[in-house]
Amino acid sequence: MDRVAVCPGSFDPITYGHLDIIERTSKVFDKVYVSVLKNSSKPGLFTPDERVELIETVTQEFPNVEIRQFDGLLVDFCKDVGAGAIVRGLRAVSDFEYEMQLTSMNRKLDSTIDTIYMMTNNNYSFISSSIVKEVAKYDGKVEDVVPPEIEVALKKKFNHE
Ligand code: PNS
Repeated sequence: MDRVAVCPGSFDPITYGHLDIIERTSKVFDKVYVSVLKNSSKPGLFTPDERVELIETVTQEFPNVEIRQFDGLLVDFCKDVGAGAIVRGLRAVSDFEYEMQLTSMNRKLDSTIDTIYMMTNNNYSFISSSIVKEVAKYDGKVEDVVPPEIEVALKKKFNHE
């Protein structure tokens, strides 16, 4: 039986931190769905379609990774794609409380789906999409924290071309 995992998130935009988790998940599972939350309450810089396109561009080298959008509950998306696990990255202790809430609620909603945490690579433990956007907005250097395609997309969004 195929081991299927979901890597969910807002990915606004994807960073090297996300990519590291996706790559490592793709080595442990047979199939990985990167699922982009469609109707987030957070105001987004990139549209869900743009986020999917950018993630597709930077994950091309991983043949068992597929990008999808999802709406509604994450556990329902997991059921739809036959995933038994949700994989998330944990950067620091500050992530823990929120992640514990997510995991506990998801377990209450569906106890057959487990959540697995991977410690983010230390090189990326300080990165978040929000910080990347803030730096890019003022034309700061983000080349060490996002792939080149994302850097270009950020420059376009903020008219720094
Ligand atoms: O990258 P993010 O914003 O931390 O990802 C959060 C995400 C998308 C994993 C979370 O908001 C989510 O799963 N939303 C879908 C709605 C849901 O299932 N809520 C119940 C769990 S609290």
